[in-house]
Amino acid sequence: MSEISRRQFLEFMGRSATLAGAFNFLPGCVNLDKSANPSAPFTPLKPSQKDDLLLAKGFKYNLLLKWRQKLNNQGELFGYNNDFIAYLPFSSTNPYDGLMWVNHEYTDPWLNSGWKPGFTRTKAQVDIERKEVGGSIVHIRKNEGRWSMVKDSKFNRRLDAFTPIPIISEQPILGKKIAIGTLGNCAGGVTPWGTVLTCEENYQNFVGEAVVSNGKRTIQDGDQYLSWIGHVDLPPEHYGWVVEVDLKTGRAQKLTALGRFSHECATTTLATDGRCVVYSGDDSDQEHIYKFIAAKPGSLEKGSLYVADTINGRWLPLDRQKDQRLKQAFNSHTQLLISTRAAAKIVGATPLDRPEDIEIDPISGAVFVTLTNSRKNNNPYGSIMKIVEKDNSPLSMEFQASNFVSGGQDFACPDNLVFDRKGNLWMCTDMSYNPAMQEQYGRFGNNGLFYIPLSGKNAGRAFQVASSPPGAELTGPCFAPDYKTLFLSVQHPGERGHDPSRIASHW
Ligand code: FEO
Ligand code: CA
Ligand code: CA
Repeated sequence: MSEISRRQFLEFMGRSATLAGAFNFLPGCVNLDKSANPSAPFTPLKPSQKDDLLLAKGFKYNLLLKWRQKLNNQGELFGYNNDFIAYLPFSSTNPYDGLMWVNHEYTDPWLNSGWKPGFTRTKAQVDIERKEVGGSIVHIRKNEGRWSMVKDSKFNRRLDAFTPIPIISEQPILGKKIAIGTLGNCAGGVTPWGTVLTCEENYQNFVGEAVVSNGKRTIQDGDQYLSWIGHVDLPPEHYGWVVEVDLKTGRAQKLTALGRFSHECATTTLATDGRCVVYSGDDSDQEHIYKFIAAKPGSLEKGSLYVADTINGRWLPLDRQKDQRLKQAFNSHTQLLISTRAAAKIVGATPLDRPEDIEIDPISGAVFVTLTNSRKNNNPYGSIMKIVEKDNSPLSMEFQASNFVSGGQDFACPDNLVFDRKGNLWMCTDMSYNPAMQEQYGRFGNNGLFYIPLSGKNAGRAFQVASSPPGAELTGPCFAPDYKTLFLSVQHPGERGHDPSRIASHW
């Protein structure tokens, strides 16, 4: 806030409901208050309910991209409700010039004027919403200490719910090898060969879910506020996948081998034999975490999918050739993948309290999984689970799972994670708006960004770096290669159950 006055800032931001902000972490300027906290290299924020984006002293932010910002001369615009961010420099010799990917997860009904409860959209209004989701590829550059978009770059483009995307599967899905669009894009990952993985999470809100009973396929309704059913012909089976995107060309493909569910993330690591291993959480109460081991280096098109039994520390194969029960239940591997959740239940996967993001500690190799919360288990605050693979190998079929830290003391509802290069964990919280939970969450203020050292006497304690505007969650934390900037999305500021008359923020 030091560069421009607060008044100028508010004028600039007034109509921006969502943005990818950039935190410039300036170690030379931080306030080392050792008496307050000997282990955090800054004075942490206290919980706040202020209608503002607050940063601990020593940090500052710049606006990088905002909703409906023009990306190119084809009229494509930056989308809504940002989540996952990846940044890939063109070359390792110049980390300050590269391509950014930003997920656009979902829309809000107030995009459409005249909305009120019970409002029915026209097809034209649904088409507007289909343009808001998916993701953006944006060429960015750092000049004179500040990141900004390269205007009119040939790389700037959108993928949305109209973009045709090939489906990589053994068999066509509903007779199709191409899906129309990507949506519900939540978190993601980056492959070792420099493509981005964007995860289709709550697709059912838009296109419903297909249910087969006695051989008859019916579509269960989507979300009352978000559903496009009646205006689109988008089969649910074409969504819920991990989508691989080449940022230089915009080419995308749906990787069905990684399974179909509410994919939160797709966190990659390399095995010693050069194959890529991907961890993914299924963000729904009492769903599971999965591991995918690619069949060969340099590709995720084929491989083996496993689901976690965290009680016995085993990865259970979702493979019809290895399990008679799966062979009986599904007539092909493609059918099994479409119904990944059902297959996971058959083999005895452990139900978890909303598994969201997963990150791998660059120092120890341990795998950290956020379990956001659970209504079913009366666990409002969530926790972070730590998985140590046997022999520290991502190819291992055995692991040890333990509780790293529980919510309820320093924070509530852990969601997105990122490690810095020293092995400190950075975490965003997601106390999604729920009137019944406000009493439990009130003392934590608005959602925030936290710093969690993994070593030292405060290992596992969380120190607040940023506080979001009310109704928002901070998402998609992504360090620039020099670790001086953290790119961050501010998703759904003001959201209170999709009702525009109850917007909670004017930030
Ligand atoms: Fe899109 Fe699970 O948060
Ligand atoms: Ca999330
Ligand atoms: Ca979330």
